Amino acid sequence: MINPAKCCSSGSKSLPLVPKPVSVEHGKGCFVLTSDTILVTDEASKRTAVQLAAFLRPASGFNLAIASSAGHNGTIIALAQDKDMADLGSEGYRLEVTPERVSLTAPTQAGLFYAIQTLRQLLPPLIFSTRPMNMVEWRIPCLKINDHPRFEWRGLMLDTGHDFQHVPFILRFIDLMALHKFNTLHWHITDLGTFPLEIKNYPRLQDPASLGTRMRGEPKRGVKPGRYTQTEVREIVKYAAARHITVVPEIDMPGHSTPALIAYPEFDCPVSHKTGEWDRWEYCVGNEKTYGFLQDILTQVIELFPSEFIHIGGDECPKDHWKKCPICQAKMKAENLQNEDELQSYFVRRIEKFLNSKGRRLIGWDEILEGGLAPNAAVMAWRVDKQAATIAAKAGHDVVMALTSHLYFDFPETTTPLEKVYSFEPVPQGLTPEQASHILGAQAQMWTDNHPTEKEIERLVYPRACAVSEVVWSQADPRDDSGFVKRLSVHSQRLAALGIDFEVSAGKNV
Ligand code: ACM
Ligand code: ZN
Repeated sequence: MINPAKCCSSGSKSLPLVPKPVSVEHGKGCFVLTSDTILVTDEASKRTAVQLAAFLRPASGFNLAIASSAGHNGTIIALAQDKDMADLGSEGYRLEVTPERVSLTAPTQAGLFYAIQTLRQLLPPLIFSTRPMNMVEWRIPCLKINDHPRFEWRGLMLDTGHDFQHVPFILRFIDLMALHKFNTLHWHITDLGTFPLEIKNYPRLQDPASLGTRMRGEPKRGVKPGRYTQTEVREIVKYAAARHITVVPEIDMPGHSTPALIAYPEFDCPVSHKTGEWDRWEYCVGNEKTYGFLQDILTQVIELFPSEFIHIGGDECPKDHWKKCPICQAKMKAENLQNEDELQSYFVRRIEKFLNSKGRRLIGWDEILEGGLAPNAAVMAWRVDKQAATIAAKAGHDVVMALTSHLYFDFPETTTPLEKVYSFEPVPQGLTPEQASHILGAQAQMWTDNHPTEKEIERLVYPRACAVSEVVWSQADPRDDSGFVKRLSVHSQRLAALGIDFEVSAGKNV
């Protein structure tokens, strides 16, 4: 017989929570989850209670009852939204565990959702198993947690523009993000490999699904064929929203657009391309019809994705063909643009005006600073040597940190080890508090230029994403390098139970 008052006191031990919460007050004894435990919820939190029951069901085998009032003698997990807890911000929560009751309270459903992610981690790691674990006692140590995130943009980027991933994989990617309290999936949909998003009226965009392969005469691993229907995209966006994750879509332009230009060459500059330079094509931004084409695409993207930000890429545009293109040169003359950087800036401003007219905000890679930044644009800083974050934040623009040095997960662990990721500080030095408030947060990038399999993607992302989750959620002071290693060793058991194929020893060097 379990005696909840005696067992599993959390004492002063550090809890193996990832990301680490703001504050923990340890108590005595523990709460025991049994098949008689009921979930008591207010009206506003019913859906979140259903999510909690679903999270607990596979491993525990319990079909926990959900009720609107206690009225029974067993243990209770209570969920309540309390709008007066505004001091916790829009994503914070409180979690209190006594032997009889677990109380989850938050000012928003997002906060409650994060409370249940913490609750899952307070249970034995086998709660993450997808099969019933009958011999486990599901104990939770008595304690009080107060928690809220440090940054509002806590992201991972997934690249389906170099190579395709299937919808079930993306849904699982979202589930794993939710567990780590990420709230932004930057979906880099299009790039040099493929344009996999269904766009009505432009069927040829998906037609050459293996374009990347054909263009390069790829010797080994080519672009996997596939496309996303608009119905599937809606499913992904809805699935993410239910987990309080915003999907920010990226349609890369004016460079990194070869598949679209092969499908619709009328939007390419009318000049010859050098053989083999398939990665150096750009939209003809002097051509008015190009704007019609891109606005048609963006109109559908806006309908599919409710995200405030729409990412338009802007990275690594070679601009070579613009120099030779009579249409682009005529546009430069007509608009009094001094060089091709200013032509790109003109293009980005026009796209921004279009997005703003639809109530959305433009974000782009830091090249959009060159030639002058569009007035309301946010910048995704990736190039280490460009000081883009500092320049943009000082000019009053919002910034998301995505630096190659720490946050590119297509680079192997040997190049970007876990400890380096963990050491990342999103706010550059030398900013005033007002300027620093423009650093919205950070995200890690999972590029697929090297055509990883879906298993390989998970292996590259985890456990390094655990470190990012802590960089963006947990407080900067104090950072907890040695504590992170210890917490990760338990967290690894959770990831293993979830079927993530990674080296459990990965945290040893932190
Ligand atoms: C990038 O790595 N081209 C943003
Ligand atoms: Zn042109």
